[in-house]
Amino acid sequence: MQFPSPRHNARILSFGAYRPERVVTNAELATVVETSDEWIRTRVGIETRYFSRPDETVVDMAVAAGQDALTRSGLTAADIDLVIVASCTLPTPIPGAAAPVAHRLGIDSPGAYDVNAACAGFCYGLAQASSAIQVNDARNVLVIGVEKFTDWVDPSDRTTYIIFGDGAGAAVVTRGDDQTIGPAVWGSSGDRADALYIPDRNSMLAMDGPAVFRWATTDIRDEVRRICERSGVTLEDIDVFVPHQANMRIIDAMLRSLKFRDDAVIARDIARSGNTSAASIPLALASLSDTGQAKAGDLVLVIGFGAGLAFAGQLFVMP
Ligand SMILES: CC(C)(COP(=O)(O)OP(=O)(O)OC[C@H]1O[C@@H](n2cnc3c(N)ncnc32)[C@H](O)[C@@H]1OP(=O)(O)O)[C@@H](O)C(=O)NCCC(=O)NCCS
Repeated sequence: MQFPSPRHNARILSFGAYRPERVVTNAELATVVETSDEWIRTRVGIETRYFSRPDETVVDMAVAAGQDALTRSGLTAADIDLVIVASCTLPTPIPGAAAPVAHRLGIDSPGAYDVNAACAGFCYGLAQASSAIQVNDARNVLVIGVEKFTDWVDPSDRTTYIIFGDGAGAAVVTRGDDQTIGPAVWGSSGDRADALYIPDRNSMLAMDGPAVFRWATTDIRDEVRRICERSGVTLEDIDVFVPHQANMRIIDAMLRSLKFRDDAVIARDIARSGNTSAASIPLALASLSDTGQAKAGDLVLVIGFGAGLAFAGQLFVMP
């Protein structure tokens, strides 16, 4: 028995974004917990984040970002074969978000599933979208990263409340002449699962901030080099670096030992959007594309990392 083994190339076609209407400043947070604008700016580099409305769901935000990516792609709902939603903040484990999101977007009976790899979720989703096109005959795949952290962060816990925000980002992946999405590099350290976790269904997010900081600035920094090695490029070849927008100090610490070109663009959407976990990388990419900082043809390196602890990253060519 020999099953059909289609071979196509995959590329990213468009990005989409959704940021909730409500912009929350550090000064506003300082009215809720004992903190200050100065502490937050210097320790995590966040200036604002977006909080969704209480009645606004993960699915609502995913639909908005997915529709934006679809509109920008020039495709219609009928062209999408597979919807992948990366999230770790759904209110309940089932149903996943992907099938309801696809239904709301008018996509008729696509493959649909969720990925929960927390802040690394979008990069895992992108790897799977690429594979679905390369070896599983999909024509177009919608990948969405979405989080509603306001449901899972305790407003009295100043170590987490100041960091996380809500939002959604998306990408449409399609067939191309060339394969312009590189192989994913991924891994995990389950022995440190309790560095960032929700202990049970009645609890909120708990974080060992210093442990996460150390992991991100040592192990994850080394994985950035491995992503380049895997595709036979060097840091000098990278035009745009989009690490998970966890925290400005983590980005700055990475950059002290990763020598990108002086003119390489570094994503710093964290200042505007806070840490939106699975949404942070596509939100940053949509913004870099909209502002013209990232241009078509640029070589982009993305790496997501967070709860698990788990990470994933890859290279791709900017659409
Ligand atoms: C959370 C983080 C900013 C804390 O910074 P830190 O320098 O490690 O600070 P510490 O936890 O040692 O706390 C230092 C002091 O600041 C206080 N503090 C913590 N949060 C505060 C806040 N929001 N405002 C004011 N003070 C705060 C602490 O209570 C502590 O006070 P103490 O010395 O009186 O006990 C830092 O560990 C970090 O950035 N970690 C990574 C977190 C992250 O990115 N998570 C997402 C990963 S996906």
